[in-house]
Amino acid sequence: MSSSRYDAVVIGAGAAGMMAAAMAGQRGLRVLLVEHAQRLAEKIRISGGGRCNFTNTGVTHAQYLSQNPDFCRSALSAYTPRDFLDLVERHGIRWHEKHRGQLFCDESSEDIIRMLRSECEDARVAWRMPCTVQSVSRNGDGFVLQTSQGAIHAAQLVLATGGMAIPQLGATDFSLKIARQFGLKIIEPRPALVPLVFDAQQWKPFAELSGVALEAGVSTGKGRSAGYFLEDLLLTHRGLSGPAILQISSYWNPGEPLSIDLAPGKDLEEELLQAKHTGRQQLSTILAAHWPRRLVDGWLRSQGAEALGGSRLAELPDARIRRLAASLHAWTIVPTGTAGYKKAEVMRGGVDTRAIDQRTMQARNVPGLYIIGEALDITGWLGGYNFQWAWASGTACGRSL
Ligand code: FDA
Repeated sequence: MSSSRYDAVVIGAGAAGMMAAAMAGQRGLRVLLVEHAQRLAEKIRISGGGRCNFTNTGVTHAQYLSQNPDFCRSALSAYTPRDFLDLVERHGIRWHEKHRGQLFCDESSEDIIRMLRSECEDARVAWRMPCTVQSVSRNGDGFVLQTSQGAIHAAQLVLATGGMAIPQLGATDFSLKIARQFGLKIIEPRPALVPLVFDAQQWKPFAELSGVALEAGVSTGKGRSAGYFLEDLLLTHRGLSGPAILQISSYWNPGEPLSIDLAPGKDLEEELLQAKHTGRQQLSTILAAHWPRRLVDGWLRSQGAEALGGSRLAELPDARIRRLAASLHAWTIVPTGTAGYKKAEVMRGGVDTRAIDQRTMQARNVPGLYIIGEALDITGWLGGYNFQWAWASGTACGRSL
């Protein structure tokens, strides 16, 4: 097979990789995209329920987790949600806003894939797909890649293979391995934006409530690494899911408890004490005005307070009612783990950004090596933030190659 030379080779033709390749190609560089999958950009295709939540109008650095929280500021402000929206509109893609600034395609996420592909074609980006990279090594100032399609020489190399979520779609830790090979530090990767699971015995009272959803305030952690989200929570056979849980999972560390406010914005103590003095109702009847009856029964069972459900409030001491209200506002449970990469939307952790230039995404001690997208230790909230990071870091890199 023939040997080929490029100004820049981008490994991984996903969100960040196509963005970087198009930007660099438009500047006149000879760029090659190398992708190992059979189908292009599977994660964009399945994202946002098939409609791709491609950005969020409220993006700031505050919606990203990282050991180096200020790192993402520069790229995010140099390429904003408005910039991406301009691109989407130039391609005639119709879009709409859902809640909380989340922007989706009207028709299909395929529109975003077509748009990125056409930007790459206009920029004369070359493709090798499917193509497996067997090794990467230094070659003078540049790099040489041994691949299933022969040797490729790159003056500059971009690692854009994303995170490890959904390995069944071909996700790998390739970028982390190559970064490590060049002496870069890795922040321990873990599944994030992922359902949380519980010990089967502990979860027994709730397992049969699978499918029940409610709004809740969920928090975990302490100090700077603490998170709080007020969103919908969903009970599943094995544990908890829904936006509130996916969001908090990115902040959760093994062994830590979650605190769940089952009645956010309400004053249950006041309500229950008032009900005690004005009526003859049973506790479970009053609680069932807020939540499905089965959930009330399951929750009381999990608190070892099953018998209380049938008690009239008037029979309960005020102190007991106060304790009960407090635990409904701060239900404390400890997940045994996450549902893993198979069910996660993203990976948290990744290449430590302290060794990366925040304006260009180039590794400071490895001239010519760039890392972008989810492979870096930058993890966005649910709601379009991860794609915006892919577009912004891809652009920062593509403009600097
Ligand atoms: P991305 O994963 O897009 O691309 C990496 C590319 O590298 C892939 O094409 C992969 O095949 C390729 N690759 C991997 N290993 C390789 C190797 N060894 N050799 C060559 N190529 C290799 N985000 C958001 O903002 N809004 C949303 O609506 C959603 N929805 C969503 C749903 C689901 C189910 C998932 C799993 C994820 C999301 N996300 C999301 C997250 C979003 O998809 C993700 O953060 C970005 O795609 C990351 O962009 P990257 O370019 O870094 O990786």
